[in-house]
Amino acid sequence: MSTAQGRLRIAIQKSGRLADRSLDLIRDAGLKWVKGHNELLYRVENYPIDLIRVRDDDIPTFVADGVCDLGIVGENVLEEGRNGGPNAEVVMPLGFGRCTLKLATLPGIDWQGPQSLQGQRIATSYPNILKRYLAGEGVKADVVLMRGAVEVAPRMKLATGICDLVSTGATLEANGLVARDTVFESQAVLIKSPTPPEAELADLLDSIMERMSGVIASSG
Ligand code: PRP
Ligand code: ZN
Ligand code: MG
Repeated sequence: MSTAQGRLRIAIQKSGRLADRSLDLIRDAGLKWVKGHNELLYRVENYPIDLIRVRDDDIPTFVADGVCDLGIVGENVLEEGRNGGPNAEVVMPLGFGRCTLKLATLPGIDWQGPQSLQGQRIATSYPNILKRYLAGEGVKADVVLMRGAVEVAPRMKLATGICDLVSTGATLEANGLVARDTVFESQAVLIKSPTPPEAELADLLDSIMERMSGVIASSG
């Protein structure tokens, strides 16, 4: 799909753990936006660029399809959505939004590693990442997809274990769960479409990526 509207588009998370830091990076790269009536789109006033504010899960698709030229998204989301089709290209890690996908269970289990979940049910919002991990570990388990509130699954006896994002650990603790093995380490990354922008926007795209890179480098 081609955008062909004379403006670059950057996909960012509308709300959630990456939303504020994504806007910080964009501002530090020199872009000034105005919030319009349209919650989906912030118009950048000093460059022909629009910020498209969507669910993080949709960002890889927007960028892979060329609907957006750039996107800021967690590696966890990118990895989960990876498929045989054209994929967004990772430009660089951004150093924020760090979190870890971990297995977790209730405490009363003699944990011997992921093998302890052999033949058990595991609830997760990341079935693809989890299945790849389990295959690598030689564990056969029943993966149950939950879109949210994964942490309630063990207590509800819906699953023996969960595989969910852990950042501060507060969610696990509040639900009496113990973090076990790490499945995937994640941080925010800048991604770029495999579809080049209109010719007259190519230099702008390069300069935006360079400035973001400068911002990241100088923030250590
Ligand atoms: C994740 C995860 C937990 C929470 C863990 O959800 O599903 O609910 O964060 O963070 P903590 O260790 O700091 O308590 P998140 O809000 O990132 O994403 P989602 O809304 O897309 O599930
Ligand atoms: Zn999400
Ligand atoms: Mg959550």
